[in-house]
Amino acid sequence: MRAVTQKTFGGPEVLEIIELDTPVTKATEVLVQLHASGINPIDGFIRSGGYPMLGQPPFILGWDISGVVVEVDPGVHRFSVGDEVYGMPFFPRQAGGYAEYVAVPARQLARKPSTIDHVHAAALPLVGLTAWQGLVDIADVQPGQRVLIHAAGGGVGHIAVQLAKHLGAEVIATASAGKHELVSSLGADQVIDYRAVDFTTAVRDVDVVLDSVGGDNGPRSIEVLRPGGTLLTLVDRANADLAAATTAAGRRFAGVAVEPDGAGLERLAELVDSGGLTVHVEQTFPLEEVAKAHELLFSGLPGKLVLAL
Ligand SMILES: NC(=O)c1ccc[n+]([C@@H]2O[C@H](COP(=O)([O-])OP(=O)(O)OC[C@H]3O[C@@H](n4cnc5c(N)ncnc54)[C@H](OP(=O)(O)O)[C@@H]3O)[C@@H](O)[C@H]2O)c1
Repeated sequence: MRAVTQKTFGGPEVLEIIELDTPVTKATEVLVQLHASGINPIDGFIRSGGYPMLGQPPFILGWDISGVVVEVDPGVHRFSVGDEVYGMPFFPRQAGGYAEYVAVPARQLARKPSTIDHVHAAALPLVGLTAWQGLVDIADVQPGQRVLIHAAGGGVGHIAVQLAKHLGAEVIATASAGKHELVSSLGADQVIDYRAVDFTTAVRDVDVVLDSVGGDNGPRSIEVLRPGGTLLTLVDRANADLAAATTAAGRRFAGVAVEPDGAGLERLAELVDSGGLTVHVEQTFPLEEVAKAHELLFSGLPGKLVLAL
């Protein structure tokens, strides 16, 4: 099979296509022939060596997958050959998603939403599970609560806005002006251009903040939370100073570390198929153009980038 690997840390140019043996399933696993593989910022951090989560190269990046089951290990009953599945297996260990085949524990997959194609399904798992685990499992957002979603036009943000809305929350969002139309169309009640307006002056009494920006965004978000409100942080989850400051202010600190979750994927798929969740894919690339896709990774495009296999 074809796969993307790298021999050194570096820029997008270190990514190269190689030929590998197709993976062999172990007990609990199915072999998935991928039709699409989603790209996430973490892939770029690992590629460059900025966040060496997979250790030293060589390794194969990629977690977000959508494809068709082509083999089922004896004892697996959740799926049959021919089933269309999607998921984010093995995270934060290597999944090898930038490849034509991946062997995956069956419980880390779910049936692909039937109303979207593989490209859109492959864009959903990591950002969808992050939003779900943060807003539902950790923050337990309730109808009528006020939720602030930072970076609302990005991968996580555009899903989180819709999920918070689905949960019955009043949704306030931050995004640059070029993304306001998209963010409003996803259901945000108020969109703040964070480049023109200091969000701490434009919003208050929020029950939950989802921060995927970091830096001073975390400490500043404490100010807009009501007493007892929750700060969900994706990038500062190990920041002890931020945790202490949040707690000292009488708010709840909650770092989010997304994890594989077949049941969460099933809920997300139901939401997609009932029309409650759309996935914005900005651009697709063939596997051979993976470096081109990585060049765009931190360019501030809305939504998601996906490799179509
Ligand atoms: N802990 C976890 O489990 C977990 C899970 C998923 C993602 N993450 C992390 O969360 C971050 C975001 O991921 P993503 O996939 O959503 O990235 P993304 O698709 O690249 O989106 C990032 C967005 O941030 C916006 N932005 C930049 N500066 C901002 C600011 N000061 N205020 C508000 N918005 C700002 C950008 O849009 P505009 O500036 O144009 O509005 C951009 O759309 C990444 O660092 C990723 O690694 C962590």
